[in-house]
Amino acid sequence: MSAVIQDRPAITSSELDIVPVSPRIGAEVRGLRLSGSLDPSTLEALKAALLRHRVLFLRGQQHLDDATHQAFGRLWGEIESHPTVPAPDGTTFLELDSRHGGRADSWHTDVTFKVAPPKVCILRAVVLPPVGGDTVWANTVAAYDALPEELKAIADRLWAVHGNDFDYAETRVDHGASEQEAEGRKKYRAVFTRTVIEAEHPVVRVHPETGERALLLGHFIKRLSRLSTSESRHLLEVLQQRVVRLENTVRWRWSPGDVAIWDNRATQHYALNDYGDQHRVVRRVTVSGDVPVGVDGRSSVDLTAAAQQ
Ligand SMILES: [Fe+2]
Repeated sequence: MSAVIQDRPAITSSELDIVPVSPRIGAEVRGLRLSGSLDPSTLEALKAALLRHRVLFLRGQQHLDDATHQAFGRLWGEIESHPTVPAPDGTTFLELDSRHGGRADSWHTDVTFKVAPPKVCILRAVVLPPVGGDTVWANTVAAYDALPEELKAIADRLWAVHGNDFDYAETRVDHGASEQEAEGRKKYRAVFTRTVIEAEHPVVRVHPETGERALLLGHFIKRLSRLSTSESRHLLEVLQQRVVRLENTVRWRWSPGDVAIWDNRATQHYALNDYGDQHRVVRRVTVSGDVPVGVDGRSSVDLTAAAQQ
């Protein structure tokens, strides 16, 4: 499946110093200082690298503060705040603070309950535990490409309802949470679901920039459209297992100053919840995306009005 990466145009070292972290997904970009005013050719090279590697890692970006982090985000498009979780201090960030229930420890693509999920997300480490709290990303294009033709034919025709009030208990593994963590999670979930937001998306979306097909799944899915609960669960399990095969993933061990940029149209991710009561805070800039389009050319549908009735 490394062909998935090799099919993308190569980026010359004169533009950016790019070192793949694993064959199918993830690359480190070295020697680049992020800011809100990158020169156009560097920005173009960075965008091409993201399409090719799906997630990019940059070390040593301690100089970034809230303002420059957001300014860098605006180079990718319009930035947006989370539809239900308030942004801190007048910013547009989604902040995940482990002491306030911000632990994203199940596989998902960001904000897929919206009819137009984010295009790109840019995560900056603010407070890190001494060890633990790694993030893992999976390549949803490679996962689709590796399906046998028989399963592609089924997946191509499936649609799914995503909602922010998905059955969280179903996907979450209990890590022996402390009372403090459990209380934080409860409050976070109450805020997260204060308005119900739902959308119906194709299970296979056509990437708007590359034309590749990607599986659009993750923990916000409530059910597959027009199938029974049991059929829905079984089919989702079959497809999701393909996404999270270890060969299809990259795991990043965070250091202070690290930034991760991912293509939210071609990935899922999972933040490991293995650091107990240690403190971890990350801030995410979210770049607005398109309404997904399925293999048959149909666009996703906003179900929010119906969900709120
Ligand atoms: Fe996330």
